[in-house]
Amino acid sequence: MRKDLIAGNWKMNATHLDAIQMVQKLSYRLNDSDFDRVEVVVCPPYTALRSAQTVIETDHLRIKLGAQNCHYADSGAFTGAISPGMLAKLSVRYVIVGHSERRHVFGETDADINRKVKAVYEAGMIPIFAVGELEAERDAGRTEERVRSQFAAGTSGLTQEQVNSLVVAYEPVWAIGTGNTATPDDAGAVCTFIRELAADSYGDAADHMRILYGGSVNPGNVAAIMAKADIDGALVGGASLDPDTFASVVRYWV
Ligand code: PGA
Repeated sequence: MRKDLIAGNWKMNATHLDAIQMVQKLSYRLNDSDFDRVEVVVCPPYTALRSAQTVIETDHLRIKLGAQNCHYADSGAFTGAISPGMLAKLSVRYVIVGHSERRHVFGETDADINRKVKAVYEAGMIPIFAVGELEAERDAGRTEERVRSQFAAGTSGLTQEQVNSLVVAYEPVWAIGTGNTATPDDAGAVCTFIRELAADSYGDAADHMRILYGGSVNPGNVAAIMAKADIDGALVGGASLDPDTFASVVRYWV
């Protein structure tokens, strides 16, 4: 039985002071039974992780902490970079790897992303590994081809045990931050395709692996997306910045 996971990707928003308020407000809007049903993750920018961690630990909140990126090395001469070990030490549980903005704005390659996925596991955390096609690829009917190659490259060399806990986020690039969501049917079909790909390479682990949909998820469309059999949660950008709105996404059945 896969537990739903809803993660808020704050991107480059929120100071550490904002983060304290956002985590407190979110916790106020959610109750224990929500956390029994959904794993709730927030992914603040690096500079706000420590503050968010402190609120979560001091108040014994069930919100979990994620990061938006990391380097693949443990330490070294990588000016401006943050290592997986540094994140793990802040009680970070999840790290988004291969987000489309990292791929397309910062030029990360499939090879970089594969190294990061492995490094996140080595540091004892779980990757939220993002894949998704560009609009032109979708229009050319190449969505499955693109997702297949990103999935294969990003997960190359993983063990079955790692894939058991893996979280994949299917985020069509044309749906991110645009207000254009994939239809629930289309999103569900690609997520089923991703589970089949995982089953081909990793057998039963594919049944445990969670698959999120991301791209303009909001309180109005989340329930229809979550109704799809192979969608186990959502990766939420814009709608995660307001705690009331994000709480409504988390409580998608209400
Ligand atoms: P969005 O972003 O919800 O604002 O479309 C999703 C994401 O980039 O993870």
